Amino acid sequence: MTLRELSASQPDSFSFTDENFSLSKRIIKKYPEGYQASAVIPLLDLAQRQEGWVSKPAIEFIADLLQMPVIRVLEVATFYTMFNLQPIGKKHIQVCTNLPCLLRGCDQVVKCCKDKLGINFGETTNDKMFSLSEVECAGACVNAPVVAINDDYYEDLTYDLMSKVIDRLVQGENIKIGSMINREGSSPVGNKKTLLEDPNHMVPKQDLLKAKADYEYQKKQKSISKGNN
Ligand code: FES
Repeated sequence: MTLRELSASQPDSFSFTDENFSLSKRIIKKYPEGYQASAVIPLLDLAQRQEGWVSKPAIEFIADLLQMPVIRVLEVATFYTMFNLQPIGKKHIQVCTNLPCLLRGCDQVVKCCKDKLGINFGETTNDKMFSLSEVECAGACVNAPVVAINDDYYEDLTYDLMSKVIDRLVQGENIKIGSMINREGSSPVGNKKTLLEDPNHMVPKQDLLKAKADYEYQKKQKSISKGNN
């Protein structure tokens, strides 16, 4: 479990940049009069995108902006693990260790991160490049094991694949996100096992003109047969 408490070291103050202040006003306006408090999550997210984490002054600033008690904003910030309550590195590696990821080998992904970065969960490398966190279900269980790095997901990881991801991040190279084994969407590993038929062949195409001609022919034959009787 992740420890959810404010950092012991806090900045003296917080305020949005001019650009983010205008954006915060636009976000607040999306909510009906009297329900501005609903903007608390997007505003905490905006503060985190600006500073990299959510500080106590940022919580107080947002409470003031939304005219909410500080404790209400603090409750939200400490409940959701996507809000970083401590300063973090440039790349925040969040490893899912919940059951589906565990069954698919996330312990090896965790081991790789710890081996390569030399840090434990909740720690940041000395160069402030990487922070490592453990999270509960990243919501992509079908392609487990899964790691989120900032806003991107890396899936179907193994020790070696995770190692390559870290190496490429260190080199500043672009990495393809999503399945690391080129799984198509969330199809089974090794390709589809069901619904293999070509759907175009399953429903025979009807020749409506021929069907109409057949009908007319049958109708005519019946009428001739009635006339002969
Ligand atoms: S359990 Fe890991 S993504 Fe859901």
